[in-house]
Amino acid sequence: MMPSPDLFPVPLIHISETNSTNNYLQTFCARESTEELTTVVADFQTSGRGQRGNSWESEPAKNLLFSFVLFPEFLEARRQFLISQIVSLAIKEELDTYTNDVSIKWPNDIYWKEKKICGILIENDLMGRNISQSIAGIGININQEAFRSPAPNPVSLYQITGKQYDIFEVLKNIMLRIQSYYSQLQKGDTSSIVTQYEKSLFRKEGIHRYKDVNGEFLARIVCVEPEGRLILEDERQIKRGYMFKEVEYLLK
Ligand code: BTN
Repeated sequence: MMPSPDLFPVPLIHISETNSTNNYLQTFCARESTEELTTVVADFQTSGRGQRGNSWESEPAKNLLFSFVLFPEFLEARRQFLISQIVSLAIKEELDTYTNDVSIKWPNDIYWKEKKICGILIENDLMGRNISQSIAGIGININQEAFRSPAPNPVSLYQITGKQYDIFEVLKNIMLRIQSYYSQLQKGDTSSIVTQYEKSLFRKEGIHRYKDVNGEFLARIVCVEPEGRLILEDERQIKRGYMFKEVEYLLK
């Protein structure tokens, strides 16, 4: 059910249709002075955008499609990965309240077992060495019963639990968690964010299959560096570092 704006923890704009909630919020922020954490949620997107120029498909009013804005001027651009970390953690921890086996697939996909339940697209504007604006766009598969688009491995909360959910209730809880993690970040309390993120990683244990420009290999995750670089160690105990999109997880 649509919440009363007075009862929602952050300023909320609910629209029935837009091309992309990220685009909508970019334009909104450029036109008027916008309160931090202002959130735009849409029932349907005509051109939902994903990472790497992919599209994001969702049936009307079944899933969560939303974006919110931060103005983290205190945060150096080289630490922008912290925004990905807090957003991923807030979503992962909310989804943990409905099911087991939720994890964060580096850098910021949310997985249930070996399937993707949520995608995140963060778009930062830089001013000198710092971040002037960050728009985080999030798609979470909640009530959709089947997926027909060519997305590789989608899953919804409904498919996992057999239950339907009030998407605005889930959104409210996520925004409360984001608010709380963001105040932690504003206070400079980053060590527990980094620790919690590493604990929540998909494939944090064991040896698994990956692929880079040189081909397939087996490796374990060593850590994620502050700039967001993933460090793997292969079977010959050689460490390999990757930025986003430089390595692929080979799934079962
Ligand atoms: C991914 O490729 O995994 C990221 C998907 C991000 C999709 C969300 S849906 C709401 C927001 N608006 C967009 O156009 N994209 C993000």
